Amino acid sequence: MLAERRVLAERRVLAELAVQGDAEPEGRTWPWVDSPRAISCLLRLAARGEHDGVRRLDPLPRPGLLRASEVTLSPAQQPELFELEMLGGSLERRYRKARPEVEAMPWGTLDLSHFASDELIAARRAWTGAAFQEHRTGVACAATLRALIEARAPLDLIALASRFPLDEMVHVELCARMAMECGGGTEILHDPTAMVVDANPDLPALMQAAELCVRFFCVGEALSIPLIRGTWHAARHPLPRAVLGRIVKDEAAHGTFGFTFLDWAAPRLSDDDRAVLGHAADLAIAFISHQWDDIRRRPKRAPSPGDALAWMETDSYLALAGRSMEEKVRAPLLARGIPLSPMPAKGP
Ligand SMILES: [Fe+2]
Ligand SMILES: [Fe+2]
Repeated sequence: MLAERRVLAERRVLAELAVQGDAEPEGRTWPWVDSPRAISCLLRLAARGEHDGVRRLDPLPRPGLLRASEVTLSPAQQPELFELEMLGGSLERRYRKARPEVEAMPWGTLDLSHFASDELIAARRAWTGAAFQEHRTGVACAATLRALIEARAPLDLIALASRFPLDEMVHVELCARMAMECGGGTEILHDPTAMVVDANPDLPALMQAAELCVRFFCVGEALSIPLIRGTWHAARHPLPRAVLGRIVKDEAAHGTFGFTFLDWAAPRLSDDDRAVLGHAADLAIAFISHQWDDIRRRPKRAPSPGDALAWMETDSYLALAGRSMEEKVRAPLLARGIPLSPMPAKGP
């Protein structure tokens, strides 16, 4: 109910955006989108695929100011159910051969008989949400891979990145199977054509690749390593421990990738380019900070054997998240001359 009310409130802010946008339709530049509330709404709705079609959020020269372009505020595409399937047969056998660790996990060992029904529902919802997030990350990795190829990044760097979409598909399967082990997936509706915010197409190829590397890898993936590792350490049962352990292992290469790219690109970037990348990082950081504000407001639930992800709603998780953002994301970006705005203030 609370979530529904929040979505309604966010839609009201978007309706205000539409009115203001009509006043200056060309380029859809809405100067007042520097309101933290409006930015937060746009980012949250964009990330959840519940918005009405934000395709791009471009930083403008003044910190915190965004140009929301290619925004359509007409009703969203018919949302689609997040469902997965396997073709099976020889194709599945090839996939299993490439990633034998999936079948080697101790599936079928969770004893659900001691769980209260609300604990089971929370676990099913958390693992389904995790599968969806991994699926979104797959889209982000594929978009970055395309941009890297178009930018003629070094072949060995591209070769490393070409493994990432497959890793994410494995993570999708692992999380989806965890949801099934807990009794089945829960319903997620999404707009499959708006899973990630693309790079600004007006930028040169190298900068488009750099923008995506900064947002998806230097921020998103670099931050996820310590957080997933923390969740893995908190997990007690062998099955979620095996699943999270596998994800941690794969993510190690994802988390350092963005900085490897930046080190290669460094001689090709001007101060203006670095400022653009700093704004891109600010956007991604602001989005994650809003997610933490959401977690802070939620009632806490205790982790149970199948529900290792419940740890991600605890105070220790939030403390680790704040520390990791400083040490694993902001410090390495600043060390590479990418200017960042101060961290957004903590929400209530
Ligand atoms: Fe992943
Ligand atoms: Fe990843």
